[in-house]
Amino acid sequence: MFQIELESVSFSYDDSKVLLKDINMSVSRRDFVLITGDNGTGKSTLLKIIAGILKPKSGYVKIDGNSIYEDKNYFRKIGFVMQYAEDSFFCDTVFDEIAFASKNFGFVDIQKRVMNAIKLTGIDEELLYKSPFELSSGEARRVAIASAIAHEPFFLILDEPFVGLDKRGKECLTSILKKWKDTQRAVIIVSHQRKYLTNLANKIFKLEAGKLLNADSL
Ligand SMILES: Nc1ncnc2c1ncn2[C@@H]1O[C@H](COP(=O)(O)OP(=O)(O)OP(=O)(O)O)[C@@H](O)[C@H]1O
Ligand SMILES: [Mg+2]
Repeated sequence: MFQIELESVSFSYDDSKVLLKDINMSVSRRDFVLITGDNGTGKSTLLKIIAGILKPKSGYVKIDGNSIYEDKNYFRKIGFVMQYAEDSFFCDTVFDEIAFASKNFGFVDIQKRVMNAIKLTGIDEELLYKSPFELSSGEARRVAIASAIAHEPFFLILDEPFVGLDKRGKECLTSILKKWKDTQRAVIIVSHQRKYLTNLANKIFKLEAGKLLNADSL
């Protein structure tokens, strides 16, 4: 089945200001969901709630009808590329960075998973034993994505992955996303780059004043 659902999700960091109000959203296995919205409207917060990092103050986040907090395997089912994910690199080599989640989940076919991830993201095999801190910004972004997909999640969540990339980097990222979509797995992406994403996205939302508005026609 593979469906993530947000039901009446509300969130605030402090009780004086409600950031997200009664958000409802459903993401199925083949969906490509684009979320836009002005700075500070809570887009990253919403993704962290979907990724299970933050809990809503009220409402439910479900996978296949059950609370994500009761699904021990939820974190295997999602891959999360945080805003400026490459700032959080911490391994000595690109290989270890990409392999980290898969090792953590106890998978044994690590080499195969890393090779599949670099193939999809177009990372040169020669980079695998370089330090992740010596990469160009385009390479680093690809490594961040490879790190989020090597454990073969069903839902790929990306927070502003186009930021800081030049035109070539943006085109390269678009083709990675297209390849991922072709594997019949879902994307939830926060971005302002509609130009690159309109052809891929089948659901477009805008976060505005705490509400998630359907923006398909914008
Ligand atoms: N850990 C936190 N504690 C308190 N307030 C926070 C925290 N993280 C974010 N905020 C506040 O919540 C609001 C929404 O932040 P969030 O990062 O989710 O917005 P955003 O839409 O992703 O913004 P941007 O477009 O700048 O990435 C902002 O006012 C931010 O300052
Ligand atoms: Mg953000």
